[in-house]
Amino acid sequence: MTAVGIDAIEVWTGNLKLDLPGTFAPQKGEDPEKYTKGLGLNASSFPDSYEDIVTMGANAAYRLMDRKGLEPKDIGRIDVATESAFDNSKPVSTYVAGCLEGVFDGDFHHANKGERKFACIAGTQSLDDACNWIRAGRNRGRGALVIATDTALYARGDAGEATQGAGAVAMYITENPSLVELSTEQGYGSADETDFLKPNQQFPSVDGKRSVQVYLARMREALEDYESVAGDVHPDDIAFIPFHTPFPGMVRKAGMLGYRHITRDTAIEDDLAAEIGRQPREEAFDDEAAYHDALREYMSALKGTDRYADWYGSTIDPTLTLSREVGNWYTGSVHLARVSALKHGLENELELAGERVLVGSYGSGAQAEIHAETIQDGWREEIAALNIDEQLASRYELTWADYEEIHDAHNHDMDVDIEPRTTPEAEFVFDGWGPMGERKYRFVD
Ligand code: CAA
Repeated sequence: MTAVGIDAIEVWTGNLKLDLPGTFAPQKGEDPEKYTKGLGLNASSFPDSYEDIVTMGANAAYRLMDRKGLEPKDIGRIDVATESAFDNSKPVSTYVAGCLEGVFDGDFHHANKGERKFACIAGTQSLDDACNWIRAGRNRGRGALVIATDTALYARGDAGEATQGAGAVAMYITENPSLVELSTEQGYGSADETDFLKPNQQFPSVDGKRSVQVYLARMREALEDYESVAGDVHPDDIAFIPFHTPFPGMVRKAGMLGYRHITRDTAIEDDLAAEIGRQPREEAFDDEAAYHDALREYMSALKGTDRYADWYGSTIDPTLTLSREVGNWYTGSVHLARVSALKHGLENELELAGERVLVGSYGSGAQAEIHAETIQDGWREEIAALNIDEQLASRYELTWADYEEIHDAHNHDMDVDIEPRTTPEAEFVFDGWGPMGERKYRFVD
């Protein structure tokens, strides 16, 4: 079967930055270490007043098309995944196509466009749709543009305010890709859950503590389902596991549970047994409470072992570096985690071609999906072309007063007009409203 996957990727961060331990925590009367150590976050990215999901998505796609020398005729499909949409009919992909047609020769009149919604997992679902469209032979030699773009803002005072973020990831999906090939095997964990939702409202209603438990339960189901088709996962076969990362502390929990699962009945469990005993088995306990106590004790001991620390340091931690600086990008978050891991590989001169990555996506409501990817020969060149470090370094750092103003300016229920904090350069910007309530955009050189 022909290899299908991600040929190229580009990211676009919101142009503003909120320092969480330095600016946010003191205003909330909290210990800065809740952010740096507990949640695992240093900063959140925010959109400037001229930025939104269209500008960020179009800017990531513009960088990608420009760098790869792509024209609209090379793209047969544009799917935008978002949970920050502002229109119940007209999809964001049409706005993005309109922006791109303003700067590239040709048009997207023969490209299929859509918008995918299932909370944060929609970006991975769009990626899956694009791969299937190519595998079905319906692409006429063209690739698919998949864009995951979100402004992850919470109501002021909500517990989720600590985990905000804004940014977009654009991916070009083709046959014989340069970056990663996707496995056809995948596993799902899906159930009707009420952990995080936006019933026709801009800011989410969240049961934060429950959302963490639902994430872990659905991810575990997805892993078991994946193993039922692909066979057991072994830690030695996987270079990185990029998870959906609402905040790195969430992934710390997922990584721990995942490691316990994939080491069960392996030589690793045997090696660890001398130090911390074997994993508790449910059938050995008369009551559930005693089993859960034993599990907690085992996990706490496992966390303290060098073996676990080494695995976490090489397989999970590299996926979190970018997330620590930008916060939650919802649909883009797991795709940024993949970039973060590969960037670590580049900076540490790792030989990654042919290595496998296990990708754990999650969307509230709720569904997890797991699939594998094989890193391709062109990965180094693709990742070296990214300018994410420069983007992060050039963000304007918000004071608390700036933050309050910018949050209000992006609140759909408020009519607040503010001066931008940054000067746009070679990017699309929001340019006001049209007569039918449509949004207008222009490219600033
Ligand atoms: N030093 C070190 N650690 C500290 C600390 C300190 N001084 N103070 C607190 N911490 C630790 C806490 O122990 C906790 O870690 P553990 O969970 O490992 O115990 C962590 O910091 C967070 O502290 P709290 O639980 O007290 O924080 P909180 O009450 O503000 O709530 C939250 C955290 C529930 C994640 C909240 O930010 C929230 O609701 N976020 C939005 C929902 C979310 O992101 N859920 C994730 C799963 S759902 C999903 O993934 C979809 C999505 O994208 C939204």
